[in-house]
Amino acid sequence: MTDLNLSELKKKFPTNFAWGVATSAFQIEGAGKSDGKGLSIWDKFCEQPGVIADGSDGMNACDHYNRWEQDIQMIADLGVNTYRLSVSWPRVQPDGQGAWNDKGMDFYERLIDRLLEKNISPSVTLNHWDLPDSLQQIGGWANRDTVHRFVDYARNVASKLSDRVYSFTTHNEPWVISHLGHESGIFAPGIKHRGIATQVSHHLLLSHGLALQAIRADQCNAKLGIVLNLAPMHPASPSPADLKKTKIEDGRLLRWYLDPLLKGHYPEDVLDFLGTDAPQMHSGDLLNIQQPLDFLGVNYYSRSVVTAEGTWDVAKGGLPLTDMNWEIYPQGLTELLTRIHKDYKVPPIYITENGAAFKDEAVKGLVHDKQRVDYLKDHITAVASAIDQGVPVAGYMVWSLMDNFEWASGYEKRFGIVHVNFETQARTLKDSAKWYQQFLKLPKLDTDHATAPKIDLPQES
Ligand code: FCB
Repeated sequence: MTDLNLSELKKKFPTNFAWGVATSAFQIEGAGKSDGKGLSIWDKFCEQPGVIADGSDGMNACDHYNRWEQDIQMIADLGVNTYRLSVSWPRVQPDGQGAWNDKGMDFYERLIDRLLEKNISPSVTLNHWDLPDSLQQIGGWANRDTVHRFVDYARNVASKLSDRVYSFTTHNEPWVISHLGHESGIFAPGIKHRGIATQVSHHLLLSHGLALQAIRADQCNAKLGIVLNLAPMHPASPSPADLKKTKIEDGRLLRWYLDPLLKGHYPEDVLDFLGTDAPQMHSGDLLNIQQPLDFLGVNYYSRSVVTAEGTWDVAKGGLPLTDMNWEIYPQGLTELLTRIHKDYKVPPIYITENGAAFKDEAVKGLVHDKQRVDYLKDHITAVASAIDQGVPVAGYMVWSLMDNFEWASGYEKRFGIVHVNFETQARTLKDSAKWYQQFLKLPKLDTDHATAPKIDLPQES
């Protein structure tokens, strides 16, 4: 990658660029049964033996539900102007339908008010995977009725928060919910059935489109969009079998979502591949899915290398790996962004997640995570390169603010730029957090100084 110094790198971004950190409710809040919260499918999933690497759950996590004031101060001290969080559906509507839990909603109201006091724009995800378990009992996302339950929930949250939040994301990574939750079954709710998984993906997309229409009908000012996990797919070899499989995997991860959202149809080759596992649709569904997007959220971690058998031994790539065993491949982010810009008429893009897990240790109040600093710098450079090539990228958010419950990996994988001691709940800024803080403080050095606009980083509190 081009090795820009930090000031040069910073000046590649517009002054109104959104710089942030991201979290999700289930991964940080804890307070799993407090103040009337209902259980989510992840609470239930964690109860099954053997599904979470360290046998843990999200009942306490980072205890953010009780430590939110200190955590927001920490976010403000980083100097970000955006914070991506999610609302836990079972906290605000314990059964996923019917009664609303005001105490749970008050938590988000307070959080958002405090963020605004600190000049930080809240970017709110409505579904970061923690579906109320009561809805799973009646079929979950495989049941078309859940689409309507989600639309009611989304509209209700939006009506309460849209005067204060910058944006709403309907779903985080529908591919993960569909594929990992219902096909490989390694994530909640742990179902292993391809036909169910594709039905789920259709219902997620439909609920996204219907929720956008419902929220817009209420004159919402916030920007509305969806977050997809995307990656360039590379064949492991030029063999026809590897190439064929790569095309299908690209279709299932990327085109399966972007085609209906932005072009109004599912990709033909994937429908053929799925055969009888293709989803059942009602007429009008595709029109309902293809709603104008104010933004597209992209979560990027690595590329995928595909063999005909579907698995690639990452050692073969010879690239450095993160603690998740994911290849560090920053140029893939530029490749991905320029590709989706070329193939789709994409709205402004936010990198809603990017980051890496490493084995970090806090020693005497310090955490030296040089690998993460390099990872972040190289990926921010990759974003700058995409912007140079005309891709409309409007923001970048580090995953994650702090170490947290990393789903099936439990607390063993640390993605935070802030270290969390899960016994004491002590937070320690890692070197990467200090690096990000310094980077954010740098002004955008406009080439035309005479007309340089005011730097719009948040004010010191
Ligand atoms: C993404 C998830 C996020 C986090 C990162 C590492 O798939 O959206 O919650 O777990 O991966």
